[in-house]
Amino acid sequence: MARKTMPTCLVTGCAGNVGSQLTQRLLEAGYAVVGVDNFFSGAPENMRDFNDHPAFEFHERSITDKASMAGLLAENAPLVATFHLAAIISVPYSMDHAAETMEINYDASLSLHTLARAFRCGAFVFAGSAAEYGKPLSRPATEEDAGDPLSPYGLSKHLMSTAIQKSGYGCSLRFFNIYGPTRAKPGPYDGVVRQFLARAEQGLSPVIHGDGSQMRDFLFLGDAVRALLTAAGILPGGPLTGVFNVGTGRGSSIRDLADLSLRLAHVPKKPEFSPVRQGDIHFSVAENSKLLRHAGWIPSTPLEQGLALTLEGMRRLAGKTDH
Ligand SMILES: NC(=O)c1ccc[n+]([C@@H]2O[C@H](COP(=O)([O-])OP(=O)(O)OC[C@H]3O[C@@H](n4cnc5c(N)ncnc54)[C@H](O)[C@@H]3O)[C@@H](O)[C@H]2O)c1
Repeated sequence: MARKTMPTCLVTGCAGNVGSQLTQRLLEAGYAVVGVDNFFSGAPENMRDFNDHPAFEFHERSITDKASMAGLLAENAPLVATFHLAAIISVPYSMDHAAETMEINYDASLSLHTLARAFRCGAFVFAGSAAEYGKPLSRPATEEDAGDPLSPYGLSKHLMSTAIQKSGYGCSLRFFNIYGPTRAKPGPYDGVVRQFLARAEQGLSPVIHGDGSQMRDFLFLGDAVRALLTAAGILPGGPLTGVFNVGTGRGSSIRDLADLSLRLAHVPKKPEFSPVRQGDIHFSVAENSKLLRHAGWIPSTPLEQGLALTLEGMRRLAGKTDH
């Protein structure tokens, strides 16, 4: 079928860890995908499996180029769904580049949301973040707990989630810590899981910021992609409106993650410790029942299994296994 006549989705951030897996799944499901990325933190290698797919059309550009984003929406209207994942994703980077973070994660995002609505896009799914929960909590966070984020990253995501909620169009999925195998080599913007595993693979100790007692909710990439597809109504359960936590509901300490990474990589060492990072949240675990109630989504990959799959993916990439 010619791409123009196929049901089409827009994926911003398609060269990123999540966006590339989502794009792959959409293409496999028979959708055409218009992808946008400027390779700020994403990598062309992430698109290797689908770059030449006849139903994939890539545009290397920034989402801040509002005129050209409007052109894409207009040319492809009516889209089945817009998945808006492009963002400045690093909390430390956002601390030093607050204005740039706001421009991309909020201003450009809001403009895209307005365009999607104007061009009758069926679903709008935004990647919100656990960083929207700033105030100290010692129990799993419900959607209503968000507010007072500790970083420009968290603030930009929270403003956007709130705007979506108020508009009554589209949804924000507040992802907790996503991890999983990707095509790109671990980089400076990678999450803690890939950083710890990458260090352990080199026979080095993972470096923990603080004492390692921080609790995180680690969500496997495949489960995150399933949540995105569900939220758009591509899998049964959606399309959704409003704000939804996406996490496992189970907390693991950073210290436990470091120990598990060392054990899985068979490295007989202990983690190293470094100073606490500004903007770090101490306890970040999702109360995830809303997404179950509204859409039937539940996570299905336990941490140890997900870490083993991530490590296997990293080894394959490094040519250390042959399958
Ligand atoms: N990975 C996580 O743990 C996590 C947790 C919560 C929320 N999120 C959100 O999920 C989304 C995807 O995260 P990810 O882990 O895949 O990150 P990623 O860095 O791998 O992907 C983000 C992509 O956006 C692109 N991008 C950045 N600025 C852009 C711009 N101005 N124009 C076009 N493209 C731009 C990057 O190049 C990258 O490919 C992000 O919005 C992130 O904030 C991720």
